Amino acid sequence: MNLTDNTFVTISSVAHYFPPTVINNKYFENYLDTSNEWIVKRTGIHERRFALNGATSDLIIPAAKECLRRRNLRPRDIDCIIVCTVTPDYQFPNTAAVVQDKLGCRNAWGFDISAACSGFVFGLSTAASFVKSGLAKRVLLCGADKMTSVLNLNDRNQAVLFGDGAGVCIIEKSDLPNYGVIDQVLHIDGSGGQYLKKVAGGSFLPAWHSDVKPEDHYIHQEGQTVFKNAVTEMTNATFNLLRKQKLSNKDITWFIPHQANLRIIKSVGEKLGLPNEKVVVTIDKFANTTSATIPSAMSMLWEDRKLRKGDNIIIASFGAGFTWGASLIRWNPYEA
Ligand code: COA
Repeated sequence: MNLTDNTFVTISSVAHYFPPTVINNKYFENYLDTSNEWIVKRTGIHERRFALNGATSDLIIPAAKECLRRRNLRPRDIDCIIVCTVTPDYQFPNTAAVVQDKLGCRNAWGFDISAACSGFVFGLSTAASFVKSGLAKRVLLCGADKMTSVLNLNDRNQAVLFGDGAGVCIIEKSDLPNYGVIDQVLHIDGSGGQYLKKVAGGSFLPAWHSDVKPEDHYIHQEGQTVFKNAVTEMTNATFNLLRKQKLSNKDITWFIPHQANLRIIKSVGEKLGLPNEKVVVTIDKFANTTSATIPSAMSMLWEDRKLRKGDNIIIASFGAGFTWGASLIRWNPYEA
């Protein structure tokens, strides 16, 4: 997909949902050997939202309803649902099927994408390709994770880092050439899988085996290895994308990186030569919501009336796999 093709695809609407329960850093001080000071200094996180009940689809539904409302569409106008998540409601049926039923999208087909923190970037390319090829007219693209379902809340190395949330957008044809989802750079390197994983619950280590240890059901990560690779690869992917599009860092209006650690975000922003005002930060209030960080940040920018037609938005992510990538979006929303 590139500028020489003559069908253009855009994000026509975006919305987000975070559960109402706010968990601040003091909460963890009560039972873990940690402190508000350490968490803020090392991660930039002040608070996050925890879903006290329900599953990932329950985070998606309010965001999806609002997303449809903003675009003035009904559920039946959606013909494909893609859910990017590593915390599906079930192993099967897929979460797209649960969302289809709960929302009443009776004309849709769909599936889930598992690419961890890169879920939304991979999903955006998939959805845009479907619309471009004519396979789908309007895709409901959901990035959502209930990270508390895989989080060991008794391990200070991970408990403080994640939250629950959802971001949803609608992908459809653009009425303006050269606007919308323009281009992307996508990567996977399975040799990095050992550094960020959840091993149990799949076919390798099914959950019913008596020797499955509780920690196998939680996140395992080697933080510093992930950190270093995230900085390098998000920076490289963004520079490669700019080069492909013959753009420079000065052409970027907004840079929306995946939100895993404020120090990663700042380091990537500096390496790209971007002023702080162009680098979008939401990790302070919502922590790492995996597939939801980028679409929810985009939705908040839109709500704050900061997105203007023609803005060059670069989204960039890095996550388990390792997976990583970047996309260029030239903002062209639906206007009622
Ligand atoms: N409170 C207090 N101390 C903590 C802590 C917490 N919540 N979490 C970890 N520590 C401790 C460690 O136990 C370690 O102690 P030790 O030296 O006695 O063993 C010490 O802090 C330093 O640990 P280290 O891993 O070097 O810290 P760090 O500065 O690298 O920060 C992360 C840890 C996880 C915050 C950081 O590495 C990171 O953000 N990595 C990327 C994570 C990521 O992107 N994950 C999602 C995938 S996209």
